[in-house]
Parts: sequence; C-alpha cells; structure tokens
Amino acid sequence: MKITVIGTGYVGLVSGACLADMGNDVMCLDVDEAKIRQLRQGAIPIYEPGLEEIVRRNAGAGRLRFTTDVAESVAFGDVQFIAVGTPPGEDGSADLRHVLEAACNIARQMTAARVVVDKSTVPVGTADKVRRAMADVLAERGVDFPFSVVSNPEFLKEGAAIKDFMSPDRIIIGADDEHAIDVMRRIYAPFQRTHERVMVMDVRSAELAKYAANAMLATRVSFMNEMANLAEALGADIEQVRRGIGADPRIGYHFLYPGAGYGGSCFPKDVQALMRTAAEHKLSMRVVEAAEAANHLQKLRLPQKVVARYGEDLAGRTFALWGLAFKPNTDDMREAPSLAVIAELTRRGARVRAHDPVAMPRAREILAANTAVEFCDDMYQALDGADGLLIATEWKVFRAPDFQRVHSLLKTPLIIDGRNLYQPAEMRSQGFDYQGIGRA
Ligand code: UDX
Repeated sequence: MKITVIGTGYVGLVSGACLADMGNDVMCLDVDEAKIRQLRQGAIPIYEPGLEEIVRRNAGAGRLRFTTDVAESVAFGDVQFIAVGTPPGEDGSADLRHVLEAACNIARQMTAARVVVDKSTVPVGTADKVRRAMADVLAERGVDFPFSVVSNPEFLKEGAAIKDFMSPDRIIIGADDEHAIDVMRRIYAPFQRTHERVMVMDVRSAELAKYAANAMLATRVSFMNEMANLAEALGADIEQVRRGIGADPRIGYHFLYPGAGYGGSCFPKDVQALMRTAAEHKLSMRVVEAAEAANHLQKLRLPQKVVARYGEDLAGRTFALWGLAFKPNTDDMREAPSLAVIAELTRRGARVRAHDPVAMPRAREILAANTAVEFCDDMYQALDGADGLLIATEWKVFRAPDFQRVHSLLKTPLIIDGRNLYQPAEMRSQGFDYQGIGRA
C-alpha cells in the first residue's frame, strides 16, 4: 500500500518506519527541512532503541522516503496518516492547528480519493472538524473527491516504541465507512499475532479511548504515589503493599510503581486536555484532576526529603542527580520530574551535578540558563563531594553501581532514591542513609 505519514515526531517516525518494514511504500512529510535532511542521511533526531536501524533498512530498500514537499506527499499516499504535534494551548486544551493545517493541505492538493487517518492524540470531535475543514476546501476548489476520516490512536510507549507498534495489544480503528475500515484492516493485518487485535468502533469512541487509557494510567501512578507517601508515614513498605494488591487480577501488577512523579509528552498533556474537554461539556473529572494535582506534589517529593534532612536553605550544598529523562531508554525531557527537582534545589541555593546516559544534550539546552547545574559525563564524577545523591530515572546502569565507590565519593552518604532501585536494608548495612519512596 502507498502511505503518507505527516509529521516525523515520535509517533510519525515510528509509524512510518514500521509500516514500511511491513512492506508498504511510505513517504514521511515534515515542514522542518533540517530534520528531513538529517533523516535522508539516516540520522534519527530522537533516541529510541531500534529506530535508527529500522529507518536505515527501509530507506535503503527504497520503501521509506522523506520529503518537505506537500504536493508530492499528498499525491503519494492513498492513505494519509496525520501524526503532527498537538501541543497544549494556554488553557490546557490540545492545539489542533497543525492537525487542521495538514488536513487542509491534503484537501488543497488531492486529485483522487484519500483515506485520512488521525494518529495524533486529538480531542473527541476532531475527526468531525477535520472532515468539515476538508469539505470546505474541496468546495472552494469546486471539486468533489471522496475521502474518509479515520481515528487510529497510537498507544506506543517511548523507549519501547518499535516493539509496541510491531506487537500492539490492540489496534483501535474509529471509522464509519466500509471502504476506510477495509483499508485500515489491510494495513494492520500483518501486525496481528495470534489473535484478532483490530477493534473497529465509532470515531468518537476511538478518540476518547486514547484519553481514557492515559488518564487511567496516570491516575494509577498518582494513586500509588500517594499510597507510598502514606506508607512512609506509617512505617509500612510500599513494595510489600504493591505485591499484596497486584496479586488481585482486578488490579494486576503492571504500572503500580511509585516514584518521583509521571512526566513525558502524553500523560500531563492528555490529562489536561481531557479535563478541558469535560469542562467544555460542563462536567468535572474530579478523579483525574486529583491525579494531576498529586503528580505536581510528587515531583517535589525528592527535594522535600532533602529539605527535611538539611533545612530550607540549601546554599553551599551540592547534590548529585542521576537521571534526567522522564523515564529510561529515551532522551525525552518533556515534563520530566528531574526538572522540578533541579528547579526546587537550585531555587533554595543548592548546586546540582547531573548525569544521564542519553538525555544530557537535550537537558543542556533546556537548562542552559541555570548556572547552578553542572553536567557530568561520568555517573561517578557527579558524586564527587556531594551532600547526597538523588535518583530521578531508573536507567539500568544505576541499578547495580559500585556502592563502595559511591560511598567514598559522596561527602555525606545520603541517597534519596525516587525510583526505588535498591533494597533499604542492604543499603543501610553498607552505611548509607537511604530513603526511597514509600519504603519504611
Ligand atoms: C504513555 C502510555 O503508556 C502510552 O500508551 C501512550 O501512547 C503514551 O503515554 P510514555 O509516556 O512513553 O507512554 O511512558 P510510560 O512508560 O507510560 O510512563 C509514563 C510516566 O509514568 C513516566 O514518567 C514513568 O516514570 C511513570 N510511571 C510509569 C510511574 O511512575 N510508575 C509506573 O508504574 C509506571
């Protein structure tokens, strides 16, 4: 099949590469010329395990190409995936400018039937807006080419994007005409493993399903974070509590890890957009609102522990920080808890020596104005003379460090572990003042 993917961000690039890998002819469009030039040379603008290889392989085989030419991209794909950004507007609602612009571009240039697929996470009702916008443009042109608008939300996780796209739990197709449903089924047929994973539903339900999934997962994390804080106060151990509740199949073990708060490009943005949508319909989403408020507080949990140890004024203190990305296996810094940790520590006068295995170039750009932050290429170098180590991301390399070396480098053997990487009793026996999240 000939497929155009509009937008080469996370979702667009992964979708384009994986669709090409299944034998489709794919053209990826982006307005960013530098990015397209880079992609043509096989360089990937984001860190995502396995992505570079799959892009190179398919570009090499001639199945994956990159362009900035709108006319060329509209002419290319019978199916046009829209995977552009939907950044939060000032009021928290998703900004649909890029989505509608992409749709109008298709309508301006199309000379044959097209299936237009919303892959970006967009508020309920967007497919209708896309349909109307395209119909208006076609009417202005005085032409009448048939087109369908499909909602096909993407559930991939950063750091596991290729695997998630290639072996999805489910493939949601929101469509209301048989032709579009048939085309989408054909595209996704190779991605089904042992059983049917395609779920066809009405467009609005598909759009809402994406928000519902992210809001529920975000709520689950906030719930566990609050439970962990309570466990600490009570002298209970959240790890035991987690095991105790996860065994109930209605709850399950996944996504029950308390930590330094959730971040990333999806949860914070989608939770806000969902609340906004509810407000537009004069409804409130109390549970989701609370999940968000709890998350803001949780991001301050590590600095709070520092303050409890050293007092409000941290002038003259230095802290090592392991982990900057919002989670491991990505260089994505969007809404990363580390940013809240750094802002709070440096606001109180402390210096921060930070290390991350891949996110440092991005973090350097974001934190360029904060002169109290120093970036260390080596994770041990960050510890040198520090008043304590804080951990914000559970990268594998942090899981089993040379503890003796850690102990001897730190001025004070304090570890505040926002990801519960180590066993408290073991750490104490090695002479550390060790504080996790929700560990007694
Ligand atoms: C999420 C959804 O999982 C994915 O389906 C959707 O398409 C996009 O949003 P992503 O943002 O890549 O994916 O990361 P995810 O692994 O879900 O983690 C989100 C945040 O929650 C991270 O900050 C992570 O550290 C935090 N988290 C996750 C926890 O604190 N505890 C957990 O148990 C799980």
